[in-house]
Amino acid sequence: MFTSADGLSAARSSLGLSPRTTITIVFACTFLAHRLMVIIYRLFISPLAKFPYPKVAAATGLYEQYFNVVRKGRYVFEIERLHNAYGPIVRVNPQELSIRDADFYDKVYVYGSVRLTDNYNHFVDGIDFQLEGSHFFTTPHDLHRGRRKPLEPYFSRLGVDRLEPTIRDLAEKVVKRFEALKDTDTVVRLDYVMLCYTGDVISNVCCENPTSLLDDERFSTDCAEQIRLVRSIPETILLRIDRRSQLFNDWKDMAEKHILEVKREENRTDGTPLVRRGNHTTLFRHFVNSNLLESEFSVPRLVNEAQVLLGARTACVLDLICYYILADSDVRARMTEELAEVMADWPGKRPTLTQLEKLPYFLADIKEGLRLSYGMMRRLPRVSPNVSIQCREWSIPAGTPVEISAYMQHTNPDVFPEPFRFLPERWLPGNVTPAMNRNFVPFSKGSRNCLGINLTQAEISHILAALFREGAPQFQLYHTDESDVALVHDFIVPLPKIDSKGICVIFP
Ligand code: HEM
Repeated sequence: MFTSADGLSAARSSLGLSPRTTITIVFACTFLAHRLMVIIYRLFISPLAKFPYPKVAAATGLYEQYFNVVRKGRYVFEIERLHNAYGPIVRVNPQELSIRDADFYDKVYVYGSVRLTDNYNHFVDGIDFQLEGSHFFTTPHDLHRGRRKPLEPYFSRLGVDRLEPTIRDLAEKVVKRFEALKDTDTVVRLDYVMLCYTGDVISNVCCENPTSLLDDERFSTDCAEQIRLVRSIPETILLRIDRRSQLFNDWKDMAEKHILEVKREENRTDGTPLVRRGNHTTLFRHFVNSNLLESEFSVPRLVNEAQVLLGARTACVLDLICYYILADSDVRARMTEELAEVMADWPGKRPTLTQLEKLPYFLADIKEGLRLSYGMMRRLPRVSPNVSIQCREWSIPAGTPVEISAYMQHTNPDVFPEPFRFLPERWLPGNVTPAMNRNFVPFSKGSRNCLGINLTQAEISHILAALFREGAPQFQLYHTDESDVALVHDFIVPLPKIDSKGICVIFP
């Protein structure tokens, strides 16, 4: 009988090919045939083939990678262009759909009472390093729920009220550092200061022996530089090259040590009272005392949970708000005037978050900063595992990752005229329209929305009030313009131009 192996061998000898070359050619042909079949499937057979899409984006993930890597995190702008060309629903890669229609935000980002929401695993490739098991990176809805629930009371408004004294102390520490710089003509990177402040807040929240980045004479420049570097690499390649980033390891070691210590203390049976340092229960102590399932209680998992918090991006939002306040003397003056009464006896009498939230212009500044920082610029895909989602005439099959971009919602010119200008007045009572509220989604929505909303509000409010009150140390922008803060790259978090020199301020 004549076999294919005989045929191959006859063809090989007639072409004079070596066995090695023949094997390479066979592999290459098989690979190409497979890729071709995959592309044909994606373009004509996949359940997503019925949705509008540019062929190249639906055929291969390389199209997206080009914008992520070569064009340095600019796929979000390409998706915006695709929506302009293809309409409110568009396939942005072989697997995912993007919607640009604010009316559907509440239908995609839902609570568990409406529908289950899974994470989209593929989307976190590269950034889920060492973070497996954290609730943020948990795929199935129910497991995510089980892991997130014990954290909710800690980050509730009541929980954050307990953290307020610590946050106010740290804001005061920043002011003291600035007072020492008065009249020195020193130039300081305000973005580094904000990283130190928010880093110290989160480590105070988590640990009883927290870091003290704000005590560093140079505002922890090396550490801040490391964070900046980590953030300016596309997530798809970041952790393949920087898995052992020292910053993450230091944080991990600190978290691990504290969790082990707390576990040891809480398990003691000799009846001696627990040693609690600091004036609040740390997050890790809260974890250890919460009703997590035993299987969820391992030290590595809790450490991973802690690592996620390091990624919180309050500092970026603060950078942006501070820049715009410093850049416009009217905004600064109006803010200072509004703060005058509530901050009159600071630091002897420090206002609560509730008092600060009653100041309309102050609140408007924060909202406008959150709007222009887009929450996360990156897509936040949600997967409905069991049921399809109806969007206009389209039925989105169960299991499809689908997203609505906060960036596009926040910059819709029909809702926010002059969308790229910082105009806090638009948020003053009487100016706010239902469409503005509907489009404003910096913390996302539904069962996987941001857990740190209250903490963020407290962090931002206390530092802004302390820095821009009457009598605060005077500082001004130094060789910094809007292009140093306007967000134009969508990496792990949104970033300004790569060669931004940060926000430099001088103490004249
Ligand atoms: C201005 C600052 C912040 C912004 C704009 C922000 C925004 C967001 C957004 C948009 C998400 C949803 C992510 C997704 O769907 O994939 C999220 C999730 C999350 N955020 Fe924030 N966040 C901020 C600060 C914080 C802070 C300070 C914390 C610290 C406690 C925090 C903790 C979390 C956690 C744990 C999640 C995951 C929630 C879950 O999967 O259940 N965030 N954040």
